[in-house]
Amino acid sequence: PVKPPVVFHYFPFFGSTVMYGMDPYKFFSDCQEKYGEVFTFVMLGRNMTAALGPKGNDFVFNGKLSEVSAEDAYAHLTVPVFGEGVVYDVPNHVLMEQKKFMKFGLTTENFRSYVPLIVDQVEDYIKKSKFFKGAKGSVPLSEIIPELTIFTAARTLQGKEIRDALDGSFAKLYHHLDSGFTPMNFLFPWFPFPQNNRRDHAQRTMAQFYMDKIEKRRANEKHDDDQERSDMMWNLMNRSYKDGRKVPDKEVAHMMIALLMAGQHTSMATITWMLLHVAAQPKLVAQILAEQKRVFGDELAPLSYEKLVLECTFLGQIIRETLRMHPPLHSILRKVKSPMHVDGTNWVIPKGHYLLAAPGVSSMDQKYFKDPNSFNPSRWDGQKAEEETEKFDFGFGLISKGAASPYLPFGAGRHRCIGEQFANVQLMTIMATFVRNFDMQRPGGGSDVPAPDYSSMIALPTPPCTIEWVRRDP
Ligand code: HEM
Repeated sequence: PVKPPVVFHYFPFFGSTVMYGMDPYKFFSDCQEKYGEVFTFVMLGRNMTAALGPKGNDFVFNGKLSEVSAEDAYAHLTVPVFGEGVVYDVPNHVLMEQKKFMKFGLTTENFRSYVPLIVDQVEDYIKKSKFFKGAKGSVPLSEIIPELTIFTAARTLQGKEIRDALDGSFAKLYHHLDSGFTPMNFLFPWFPFPQNNRRDHAQRTMAQFYMDKIEKRRANEKHDDDQERSDMMWNLMNRSYKDGRKVPDKEVAHMMIALLMAGQHTSMATITWMLLHVAAQPKLVAQILAEQKRVFGDELAPLSYEKLVLECTFLGQIIRETLRMHPPLHSILRKVKSPMHVDGTNWVIPKGHYLLAAPGVSSMDQKYFKDPNSFNPSRWDGQKAEEETEKFDFGFGLISKGAASPYLPFGAGRHRCIGEQFANVQLMTIMATFVRNFDMQRPGGGSDVPAPDYSSMIALPTPPCTIEWVRRDP
């Protein structure tokens, strides 16, 4: 059997590590031009086979269970952070059950209650932040958005106790845990980085924190807080696997950590890019405000889930367009478990290779999106948002159709994101609250946005990501 073409490189082992690491998208499009949609590059001794374009997306996302494994690609990075017994530390069929459990905690009723909670967090943050004093000013988004994201996600998905703890000891723990979630940890899993000890200590301490809360909740028949009885932790505490086994408290705790980590970086990057793009085109800010007034009235009645998600279509398109240009996960990985034939070629990808999908390549390709480098939310006019959403029911072995799409910021198939709707609620509520409070522009009215920085696990805009704001009349 013939292998796909290998990207030319001077040094064995190192291969294309630096080119890929510095700007994966530039590297991918250069290779695509030279080698086509499927090619192999060497990264620190690993053979990475990229499959680009809509067909490549489908090939990777819908690879058979016997052919591809996500856990073999991700476990060394995620297991020390999330903890044992969940996500990539268990066989795929267990992950499918766990995803279903997590999904059950994301009901419409919950989303409805999250909107005012998120508004409260944002308003409170603005009131207390040193960057929002007076009638106008400027703010480095790279400093505030990570906090705003975790506060809003914690208050909703994790509950009041965890959110409050983030003002104290939990904040440091979270940062220590997060410091173990880096490309270095991914590339050199065997290397004893000094921060690994802090990461492991933080994981154990946080897990214990959740387990204590769970125990307290189980002991407390009455429940002081009504919301407690429907939140994510409550939901996970009361689930059983198909074989009848109750979900152990430790797994509940580890799933709670996984949810916190999965949503944090992805949402944070998206909110930052979104604010930068609208600030770079202030007419978009005006359009979002006009839509808020049309949907909620000139007096801007409080945000509500239904109106936000169903009627604020322009705001939805702003999010879609942001994710088209900046899908936070630029590389989706699988490890090849048995040789995979590439349709329409005589190529076979050998066992042991990593398979890589980069839906961001097709969503920035002019073949599929006209004028791909311009941020134009109106390109989505009249298109329904959730084609792929929810088609996959986490049934076992069931494969979604329609992964051969150029636009897949949330992935597809059995590993598809379960957090899309939550992210939408979070992003829409934060954005609407900002626009209701402020007019925004880039420094000096500039129309540029910062270049992407790929040195973390995700595609972030290069700090400080400053925007200038002017408070609207009360
Ligand atoms: C999976 C993107 C927010 C939880 C994924 C995948 C992508 C993705 C691309 C597929 C990964 C793969 O196939 O290897 C995003 C984006 C987000 C976002 C762009 C925000 C804008 C969230 C949030 C949560 C979450 C808020 C939790 C509430 C998950 C989970 C998986 C997942 C549990 C499943 C992993 C698996 O089955 O292997 N996400 N995500 N995500 N995401 Fe998200």
